[in-house]
Amino acid sequence: MIQFQTVTKIFKDGTTAVDELSFHIREGETFGLIGTSGCGKTTTLKMINRLVEPTSGTIQINGSESTSQDPEELRRQIGYVIQDVGLFPHYSVQQNIATVPKLLHWDERRIASRSEELLQMVGLDPETYSERKPQSLSGGQQQRVGLARALAANPPIILMDEPFGALDPITKRQIRAEVSSLFKHINKTIVLVTHDVFESFELCDRLCLLDDGKMQQIGTPQELLFEPANNFVDSFFASNRFQLELLSVTLSDILEQKNGEGELYWSPPLKEEQEDDEVKPNRTLYHILEEMEQRPQENLAIIHRVEKRVIDSLGFSDLLDRFQQYKRKRKRREQDG
Ligand SMILES: Nc1ncnc2c1ncn2[C@@H]1O[C@H](COP(=O)(O)OP(=O)(O)O)[C@@H](O)[C@H]1O
Ligand SMILES: [Mg+2]
Repeated sequence: MIQFQTVTKIFKDGTTAVDELSFHIREGETFGLIGTSGCGKTTTLKMINRLVEPTSGTIQINGSESTSQDPEELRRQIGYVIQDVGLFPHYSVQQNIATVPKLLHWDERRIASRSEELLQMVGLDPETYSERKPQSLSGGQQQRVGLARALAANPPIILMDEPFGALDPITKRQIRAEVSSLFKHINKTIVLVTHDVFESFELCDRLCLLDDGKMQQIGTPQELLFEPANNFVDSFFASNRFQLELLSVTLSDILEQKNGEGELYWSPPLKEEQEDDEVKPNRTLYHILEEMEQRPQENLAIIHRVEKRVIDSLGFSDLLDRFQQYKRKRKRREQDG
């Protein structure tokens, strides 16, 4: 979907911001550009929508070279969300969301209904917020409007540059959780720039770690953690390693041998009708353990899919044991392979 081939950007003052970068972002994935401040993330992102032109190398979007496409036309296909949102202060929330649809000459009715739909999607009541001006909204609400605006004309690609950077930790956490489930539903190709490793692990399918404009490694969060390509990658995650490991390992990873046999539920209660108690196998250990901490009397039960009887019951420490086993297994596999 988005392909960089040995892309280099040298600014007029001689700064090499991006150095021979190559990667391929697949359709429908959430791809994270991570690394410390100044490593070239924003420059890379801006080359996708041609806010910055590469010095050399080629960038293909949807199979055709980006430089052969009209920049305006290209940007309509690509939603863009930035940290300080950039909402137009004199426009209402609805008018802000309508920016691109207006350019595309959508009729009023279509714009109104799309804007209502989007506000609902990002968790803002349309009746309350449509006519409000941006400055009357909290930072978190403005960020939601920014996201709605980027999604308005249903572009297949969304670029996000530190979208949650300016929010307080609690709002950030909340929005991140919502955006994470939103991403899973909308099936877009998303490129997320962040210096926050936790954010990148929670939201991204694959990551590209940059240092000084150079690509250090591309892979899933687990691959970067457990199979670091070099010392830089290893040390980049070192201070948060334990938490990141819990964030990258899912229940299905540690329950491999049980696959297909059963379904996971919180227990007690084990009542069939309480669908809420079902635990998805793709949940991360971090989130499961966090929830378990708040429900100390309860275990995870694995229920036989057909017979509805308990096959196994796992407590907090059982999960940690299996997590250790899983890591040992991975390490062995890495040494063997
Ligand atoms: N317009 C510019 N002119 C000169 N240097 C720039 C410009 N924009 C960014 N840089 C430099 O390029 C490098 C990468 O910047 P940037 O892509 O913004 O990094 P990041 O987003 O990872 O913090 C930095 O050294 C930065 O100072
Ligand atoms: Mg930046």
